[in-house]
Amino acid sequence: MGVALLVSITIGYLLGSISFSYLIGRKLLKLDIRTMGSGNAGATNTLRVMGKGPAISVLALDIAKGIAAVWIGVFIGSGNDLVPALAGLAAILGHNWPIYFGFRGGKGAATTIGVIATLVFIPALIAGVVAIASIFITRYVSLGSLLFVILTPVTTWLLLSTFDYPIEFFYLTLAVALLSLWKHRTNIHRLASGSENKLGSKKEA
Ligand code: G3P
Repeated sequence: MGVALLVSITIGYLLGSISFSYLIGRKLLKLDIRTMGSGNAGATNTLRVMGKGPAISVLALDIAKGIAAVWIGVFIGSGNDLVPALAGLAAILGHNWPIYFGFRGGKGAATTIGVIATLVFIPALIAGVVAIASIFITRYVSLGSLLFVILTPVTTWLLLSTFDYPIEFFYLTLAVALLSLWKHRTNIHRLASGSENKLGSKKEA
């Protein structure tokens, strides 16, 4: 179990550290996404700086690395629920503090979606619908990200016995919510002061 956990966490972290927004920015426009727009290495800032095509690619790839990390944990963990949960958390940590790119990454929203939807699909779906609706209504992506991470511990807890989810998955959603709230602290301040960037706005943070 110890070795399986260590291997899964290591693979998850190394996978999460692949910063697709940085790589696509460098390849397409020879820019460092972390010096543009909000400075965040993620899909929302890619949309702001590079447009829809690159942003959709970054979103899909960042979600995919979260899914992959969890599934690697499932296979290596052979039945121990803590292993995929921590492999997923490691992928989010890798995204936020990537080893290949000076530990300067993103806020982990897309990777979090991949991880949580793989572990607890129905609770993630419910939270996801609310989050997407809020983005359409307000055009604040950060608000949608925050609603998603705040709601998933709630929906997971409410559906824990219905779907027989392991308690480790609930703890994971809680840890991820706290991490994400902290990573979005500047967005929270901007939301509170009414100065947050809206979807489609080119304004820099
Ligand atoms: O998760 C990223 C999103 O919630 C906010 O991104 O670039 O507007 O700070 P950004």
